[in-house]
Amino acid sequence: MPRRQGPVIFSGIERYAAFKKALEMDRSAVLGEVKDSNIRGRGGAGFPVGLKWGLAASVQAEKRFVVCNADEGEPGTFKDKLLLTEYPALVFEGMAIAGFAIGANKGFLYLRGEYRGLIPVLEKELSEIRKEGAFSKKDITGKKAFDFDIEIRLGSGAYVCGEETALIESLEGNRGEPRNRPPFPVNTGFLGYPTIVNNVETFAAVPHIILKGAGWFKSIGTEISSGSKLISVSGDCEKPGVYEVPFGITLREILKMTGAGDTKAVQVGGASGTCVPKREFSRKIAFEDLSTGGSVIIFSRKRNMLEAAENFLRFFEEESCGQCTPCREGVPVLLEGVEKLRKGECSGKYLDDLLSLAETMQCASKCGLGQSAPNAFVSIVEKFKNEYKLSKKRGKERVFNG
Ligand SMILES: Cc1cc2nc3c(=O)[nH]c(=O)nc-3n(C[C@H](O)[C@H](O)[C@H](O)COP(=O)(O)O)c2cc1C
Ligand code: SF4
Repeated sequence: MPRRQGPVIFSGIERYAAFKKALEMDRSAVLGEVKDSNIRGRGGAGFPVGLKWGLAASVQAEKRFVVCNADEGEPGTFKDKLLLTEYPALVFEGMAIAGFAIGANKGFLYLRGEYRGLIPVLEKELSEIRKEGAFSKKDITGKKAFDFDIEIRLGSGAYVCGEETALIESLEGNRGEPRNRPPFPVNTGFLGYPTIVNNVETFAAVPHIILKGAGWFKSIGTEISSGSKLISVSGDCEKPGVYEVPFGITLREILKMTGAGDTKAVQVGGASGTCVPKREFSRKIAFEDLSTGGSVIIFSRKRNMLEAAENFLRFFEEESCGQCTPCREGVPVLLEGVEKLRKGECSGKYLDDLLSLAETMQCASKCGLGQSAPNAFVSIVEKFKNEYKLSKKRGKERVFNG
């Protein structure tokens, strides 16, 4: 059973009251409220939600779609599972409000394959919504003025399918591989129609914004990062679990809250995130500092950070879809580098080459997977220099042969 601190936001609100309120507002007023709240996506990248919705709404199209990204594949993240288990109505309500705001009648919940056990709970909630007609509006003549329905689709265990364009490919029944962008899904998404893809937590926050107002939302967090964030805390601490915290909380405060002692590092943002050493524990969870989808992994002094780097890279080696060279070929080279570092066989020159390769991957990979795959490696070799010794021998080896 997860532990929780708070709640700051996810306190009970009357079921579907926000959707009813949204229906009484003009579409543009709903969009305006979401924009004014300054809410940014909770899945990790932090794209402004109001801007995304506004772009999808502004494209001329016959249909539009709303997609809830419940793939939750980032190692160390489990907060969306909690939301879907305990607050499914809130997530669906946020999707319906999005549908009303952008002019979409259909939504998909793309559910991580491993979470298939949640389907009965989610379907039960959806059948109650349909029975009550909770997401429909009739005009004064009794005709339907708006209705919104949600279908659940199951992923099959590929991490890359959490990337929004790969997710859309998968929804269309194709192999889940990232698309080239542009065009972006807000223009050309599911079946070529404007589509918004948002994280579970993003949708769950929206009913609160509509009911309590943008000003209330902005009163929590920092100037740049409004509201609260769910974090999934795991690793070396006494009280792992899901916590709701205001943006701006420091790592030191999180460690205290979760009963962590003897901590030497915190990996923020999962395998694709960054590893923070003790001397930087005053850093904040916020888009302007440590941006994260919510994974916080705590490492005590007994952990070997090169082993951690290797673990994360093995994950990417397994999950790379193989479409583009920097990611497909770069990850195994970084893995070789970690092995050399562990054996003390890596020269300073070789390490420089690895860091330059990492930079190329961050710039030239086609999607966020390859762009973020070197992050943990880079932060560990740069910030945990006492964990390895460079070889004095001037190595002849090159990162790439040929
Ligand atoms: C490899 C990869 C995996 C991702 N997995 C997820 C995921 O499981 N859930 C999620 O919400 N976003 C994930 N994202 C980010 C999505 O592409 C997208 O930015 C997000 O769903 C947008 O929602 P938000 O703006 O509400 O955060 C992933 C991105 C990449 C590159
Ligand atoms: S970066 Fe990796 S996961 Fe993304 S398209 Fe390229 S090979 Fe596939």
